Amino acid sequence: MQAYADKTRTQGHTLALVPTMGSLHEGHVSLIRRAKEEADHVTVTIFVNPTQFGPHEDFDSYPRNFDRDCAILADIGGVHAVFAPTESAFYPEGTDHHQVWVTCPEMTKFLCARNRPGHFEGVLTVVMKLFAACKPHIGVFGLKDIQQFILLKKMIHDLSLDIKMVGVPTAREASGLAYSSRNEYLSPDERLQARVLSKAVIVATELIKNGETSSQTVRDLMKKTIQSAPLSRLQYAEIVDSNTLHPIEDLSSGMELIAAVAVYFGEVRLIDNALVSVPLD
Ligand code: PAF
Repeated sequence: MQAYADKTRTQGHTLALVPTMGSLHEGHVSLIRRAKEEADHVTVTIFVNPTQFGPHEDFDSYPRNFDRDCAILADIGGVHAVFAPTESAFYPEGTDHHQVWVTCPEMTKFLCARNRPGHFEGVLTVVMKLFAACKPHIGVFGLKDIQQFILLKKMIHDLSLDIKMVGVPTAREASGLAYSSRNEYLSPDERLQARVLSKAVIVATELIKNGETSSQTVRDLMKKTIQSAPLSRLQYAEIVDSNTLHPIEDLSSGMELIAAVAVYFGEVRLIDNALVSVPLD
């Protein structure tokens, strides 16, 4: 992959990378479309990364559809390379013996990080390895995983990587539900009710735009919205600063915030978020 990337760079191409864990859906398609606008050479990676799953998470059952994914990529067209390393190629000593990790302790105390210890170390480390393998000029990621996106931007900044990060707005089903590989595990009833995630972040942004200054009030309304779905189990509803990812209590003029939720339907964990600015005084 490195030799291929070197050759492509020498030929003068601009390389965009779209890292995925496969099981491609409309959300990924929107990332690939954006990558094609940003660069004249697009690489898609498919790798279900074991180091970002906790011991009780769904690594074994995570959907894997490599042939279907390749057919989808062929259909979209304009994807020049698919990089799908094996686990032993990426972690030759085994994941338990992997020694060097990318961490970002201050920004991994809240939101998903609080509930998924070690998850973002796994993500940052594997994306660093994917960057090293594929040598892109541009990395394209979805804003549905907003904490991941902000952490990756921080990694690029702090490690002085020469890569431009592009964040693509969340692609949604007609009901508002964000596309996710995990949606396919929802029962029809759960899928119907899962629209409360997008509703919750929309009501939060509306409340903030209308001048609400208490984060508690906004969080309470997000919780109430989620709890209106009887099959849901709320994990968190948070308002955080969009740079530091720290929770904010008092919302004041000009703050850039993220309203974010994580919700279980049965064993399936879904997330959603919206970026919102507090109106200027
Ligand atoms: O967003 C994902 O699908 C994964 O976290 C990523 C970035 C491909 C790393 O495994």
